[in-house]
This record gives sequence, C-alpha cells and structure tokens, in this order.
Amino acid sequence: MNTMVEDLLAVAKAGTGDGPNEEVDLAVELEAVKELLAARIAETEATITVGALPTVVGDRRQLRQLLQNLLGNALKFQREGVKPEVHVDVTDAGPFVELTVRDNGIGIDAEHHERIFRIFSRLHVREQYEGTGIGLALCQRIAAHHGGNIRVVESSPEGTTFGVKLPRS
Ligand SMILES: Nc1ncnc2c1ncn2[C@@H]1O[C@H](COP(=O)(O)OP(=O)(O)OP(=O)(O)O)[C@@H](O)[C@H]1O
Ligand SMILES: [Mg+2]
Repeated sequence: MNTMVEDLLAVAKAGTGDGPNEEVDLAVELEAVKELLAARIAETEATITVGALPTVVGDRRQLRQLLQNLLGNALKFQREGVKPEVHVDVTDAGPFVELTVRDNGIGIDAEHHERIFRIFSRLHVREQYEGTGIGLALCQRIAAHHGGNIRVVESSPEGTTFGVKLPRS
C-alpha cells in the first residue's frame, strides 16, 4: 500500500518542480537502476544489454524513476520458462533522442497500446503479475514533463519495445 501511495505522489509531482535542469547521463542512471533491481535480475536470471546511452537535460530523479518502471516491467512480464532478455538503446529521432527498452516478454495486443498509459490500467489480475498500474502513467507524465513522449514502438507475442522521446541536449 505504501508503494502505491508513493507512486501516486510521484505521478502528482511529475508535472511540477523546477523542471528538467541538469545534465543527466542516462548510462549512469541505468546502472543505478540495475543496482536497485539486482535481486529481481538475479532471481529471473535476466540478461540486460545496453547501447551507448546519451546525456540529456532532465530531472535526474524522474528519469531514474522512468527507467526503473520500464526495466521493472520488462523483467516482470516475462513468458513462462523464458529468461528475460532486455536491451536498452537509443535511436536518433531528429530533435529528439528515442530511448528504447526492448524485452522478450509476453507482448501487448495492439488494441491496448494506448490504454496501458492510463492510471490503474492493467491487462492482468494481480495474482498473475503483481503491480497497481501506475508505472506507465508515471512514465508518461515524466516524458511529457521533459517535452517528450512515450509509446509502444512494437509488440508481438515474442516481446515489446517501448520508446521514450526526450529532447536532445
Ligand atoms: N514490458 C511489458 N510487456 C507486457 N506487458 C506490459 C509491459 N509493460 C506494461 N505492460 C502492461 O501494461 C500494464 C500497465 O503497466 P504499468 O507499469 O503501468 O503497471 P504495472 O507494472 O502493472 O504496475 P506498477 O507499475 O504500478 O507496479 C501492465 O499491467 C501490463 O499489463
Ligand atoms: Mg510497472
């Protein structure tokens, strides 16, 4: 319950504050997130590979939360008997960089690609995969707060790629 309240507070706060105003090395933040999720990574025997992530101007705390949610989901929604393989990378998107998080999990039907970003929107009962459905809503607020956006780039029963566009610094 406490986590849920904290998450809701984070959602409420995501659009406020000083705004993106510091140089944030996404490679450093991703390493920190891997530390935070170390138990889960070990438990699932996940492999995480990371491309050359850039530095962006942003709010460090928020960008770390965003990475934590996306990586956490990539580890959580795994196919039965398939070890998670997650690849984090960046692609060029004109004035933006698009951070991509690709997994080999259960996938998301195209009809749900919009709805999953709404608060409390989940595609599974809690007994199946734990969670409250706040993570992606928070990611969306954070991306918007940075002048960017988040989307499902592609998804199939073999896995999903999320993309987060952030202004190039
Ligand atoms: N990588 C993914 N693969 C498959 N389904 C996903 C993935 N990420 C999100 N989803 C679907 O989108 C829903 C919403 O994701 P979100 O992160 O908001 O919530 P959650 O992970 O269920 O809970 P919370 O993040 O609050 O712990 C999930 O419940 C799941 O159904
Ligand atoms: Mg989540």
